[in-house]
Amino acid sequence: MEEKLDFLQKRRNIILQGGGAKRVEAQHKKGKQTARERLEQFLDPGSFVEVGTFVQSELEDASTLDIPLPGEGVVTGYGNLDGRLVYVFAQDFTVSGGSLGEKHAAKICRVMDLAAQNGAPFIGINDSGGARIQEGVMSLDGYGNIFFRNTVNSGVIPQISVMMGPSAGGAVYSPALTDFVFMVDDTSYMFITGPQVIKAVTGEEVSAEKLGGAVTHNQTSGVAHFRAKDEKECFQLIKKLLSYLPSNNLNDPPAASPAEPTLPAEDLANLVPADPNKAYDVVEVIKRIVDDSDFFQVHEQYARNAVVGFARIAGQAVGIIANQANYLAGCLDIDCSDKISRFVRFCDCFNIPLVTFVDVPGYLPGVHQEYGGIIRHGAKILYAYSEATVPQVSVILRKAYGGAYIAMNARSLGADFVFAWPTAEIAVMGPEGAINIINRREIEKAENPEKERKERVSEYRRKFANPYVAASRGWVDDVIHPVDTRRHLIRALDSLKNKFEDRPRKKHGNFPV
Ligand code: HXC
Repeated sequence: MEEKLDFLQKRRNIILQGGGAKRVEAQHKKGKQTARERLEQFLDPGSFVEVGTFVQSELEDASTLDIPLPGEGVVTGYGNLDGRLVYVFAQDFTVSGGSLGEKHAAKICRVMDLAAQNGAPFIGINDSGGARIQEGVMSLDGYGNIFFRNTVNSGVIPQISVMMGPSAGGAVYSPALTDFVFMVDDTSYMFITGPQVIKAVTGEEVSAEKLGGAVTHNQTSGVAHFRAKDEKECFQLIKKLLSYLPSNNLNDPPAASPAEPTLPAEDLANLVPADPNKAYDVVEVIKRIVDDSDFFQVHEQYARNAVVGFARIAGQAVGIIANQANYLAGCLDIDCSDKISRFVRFCDCFNIPLVTFVDVPGYLPGVHQEYGGIIRHGAKILYAYSEATVPQVSVILRKAYGGAYIAMNARSLGADFVFAWPTAEIAVMGPEGAINIINRREIEKAENPEKERKERVSEYRRKFANPYVAASRGWVDDVIHPVDTRRHLIRALDSLKNKFEDRPRKKHGNFPV
C-alpha cells in the first residue's frame, strides 16, 4: 500500500507542477499567473475540486512517472464563487503552450456537461496556442466537441470566457459562442490568424496587440465585452457580472437588499436638456434611478451610441438598454444593433427584466451603413425585443422618432409598460426633417422662408412631437415627472413578477444574423 500511496503522491506532484519551474517562471515574466494560481485567486478559498486530474493521452504509459504533458495542459473542475457553484477550466500554458489536444478537449467537455446537468455557470480561462499541432485532426475534433456544447448549452447556463493569453485559430470560436468574453490588457490576444500569416497573405503589417489585443476587441470589433487592467481586476469583474445572473435558465437572478440611489433623483428634472439637439450623458440618468447608483456596463467601450448593462431596481436585477445622446446623437447603427440585440437576448434567456431608456433620433443614415447592411442588422433589435418574453418597461426621455421609436421597445414590440417624460417627442421623424417634406412648397413660396420654416417647425412640435398623441392612443401608459421614474419602475416591475407569455411552438426562429 505504501508503495502505491507514494506513487500516487509523486504522480500528483508532477501534475501539480505543470510544465515545470522554468516554464512557470517564463509565464510569470509575461505578467501571467499559472492555471492553478488563477483558480486559487479566482474561486472561494479552498473550494476548488479538480476533475480528471490524471487524464492523459491514451498513447502514453500511465504506469510510469513519465508524464509528457501533465494534466494535458488544462486544469478542470468545480468550485464556488461567492458561495455559488461554478464549473471551470483553466488552460495551462506551461504545458505545450496550453495547446488543445484530444484529451485536453475531453476534459473541458466533461466539465461543460457537468455544468449543464447541474445548472451551474461555466467559466473557461483561455491561455493557449490553439490546436495541438502534433495531434492534428484529433485536436480539430476536440474543438468541434466544445463548439457543439457551447451551442447546446447556450441559453441554459451562463457561459463566460476569460482570455488570459493568446487565443489563435479555432481557439477564438469557443469564446465567441459564449455569452461574455473578458480580456486583460497587454496579455490577451484573439485572432483567427496571427500577424505573420497576415503579412504573408495580404502584406499588411500589424502587431499582435493592434490586431487582437484587449483594446481592439473591446473598442473596435466588439468581440470582447469587458476589459481589465490585470488578472486580479478581471476576476473581480466576473464576480460582479455573476452577481446579476441566475445559475441557469430555470432560476431567477439573485435578489439583493433594495438600496436607494446615492445620487439625487431631483437632478433628473434638469439632466436631459429640453433642446432636442443638445447632448448629455444617459449614464448619469440611469445612475439616479438604480439601486446604489450602480450601473455595470457591458460592451462599455464598443458602439458607444448605446449603453447596455446590469443594475438593480429595488433589489431586483434588471438589464438596462439606453441610447447615448452624447455619441452619434444616440442614433442606431450597425454596431449598436448588434450590441443591443445580443444583450436583450441574453437577458431574455436568463429571466432578467428589461428596462429601456429611449432618446433616439433614428437609424443612422449613410452609404456606409446601407452597404454594411443596416437593414438586416437593424432588424436584429426588432427581432430581439419582439422575441423577448421577460418583463419589459420602456421610458421615453426625449426623442423617439420613426422606426427607431419602435425598435427601442415600443408597446407594439412587446413592452409591458411605456412611460414618457414630458420632454418626450414621439413622431414619425424630427420636426426639421418632417416640415422639409410636408411643408416644402409653403416654405419655398413664403416671403420669408426662414421665418416660415421656424413657424412650421414649432407648429409641428406642438402638434406631433410630444408624448400626448401616443398617450392618447394608449401606446404610452403614463406621462411622468422625471423625478418619479424610479417609483414607477419599481411598481411596474413588481406587477410583472409573475408575467407569463405563451408563444407558438417552433424549433427556433430565424434571427436576422
Ligand atoms: C503544439 C504548441 C502550440 C500548438 C505553442 N506550442 N502552440 N505546441 N501546438 N498549437 C508550444 C511551443 O512549441 C512551446 O513549447 C510552448 O508551447 C510555448 O510556445 P512559444 O511559442 O514558446 O510561446 P510564445 O513565444 O509565448 O508564443 C505563443 C504563441 C505561439 C503566440 C501561441 O506559440 C504560436 O503562434 N503558436 C501557434 C498558434 C497557432 O497558429 N495555433 C494553431 C491555430 S489553428 P516548448 O516545449 O518549447 O515550451 C487552430 C485550428 C482550430 O487552432 C480549428 C478549429 C475549428
